Amino acid sequence: MADHSQITAWADQIARAGRPGPTGPGIAEGPSLLIAGPTGTGKTHQAYGAVRALLTRGVRLRWEAITSADLHARLRPRAGRDGEREFQTLARCPLLLLDDLGAAKTSKWTEELTYRLINHRYEHMLPTLITTNLPTAELRTALGDRVASRLAEMTERVILTGSDRRRTAPAA
Ligand SMILES: Nc1ncnc2c1ncn2[C@@H]1O[C@H](COP(=O)(O)OP(=O)(O)OP(=O)(O)O)[C@@H](O)[C@H]1O
Ligand SMILES: [Mg+2]
Repeated sequence: MADHSQITAWADQIARAGRPGPTGPGIAEGPSLLIAGPTGTGKTHQAYGAVRALLTRGVRLRWEAITSADLHARLRPRAGRDGEREFQTLARCPLLLLDDLGAAKTSKWTEELTYRLINHRYEHMLPTLITTNLPTAELRTALGDRVASRLAEMTERVILTGSDRRRTAPAA
């Protein structure tokens, strides 16, 4: 569950802004979250917690989750696959969780893909949950100025600190 105060505050805000519907509010335009911090500090855990927080507030939503490495692999052009259609599905999804941004190997093609995805979500103010291991300055180097500038405007930043929970947690 999301137990971070900034994340529950974000979920409250999105839930309040939601368009009313017959079975509860739908998700609407709103700010995105950039959850940053070192490996194992709980970024992915908090991002999925944010989705659950919206669901427990009764928000009806369609959501997709993908890591940036999987995004690159899934959308790579190949015969018989309509990568553009898959791209549009992710770009237009009312809520998108983009995990591990900046962690995968990049190329001109992946940079353009990331730019197009972030730019679409930015222009349409679609709530996006992004996690990254990179500190802000490195994010700019890894993703380029155009992506970093849009992220700076569209996201609220949540910085997680602490040690790697995978090392310190007792075996379940
Ligand atoms: N608030 C929490 N309560 C209990 N367990 C947690 C919490 N946050 C994270 N964990 C556990 O700690 C481990 C690491 O968390 P998570 O995978 O979210 O880290 P991460 O920051 O996304 O790491 P990476 O940078 O490697 O992707 C996982 O096993 C997760 O279930
Ligand atoms: Mg993670």
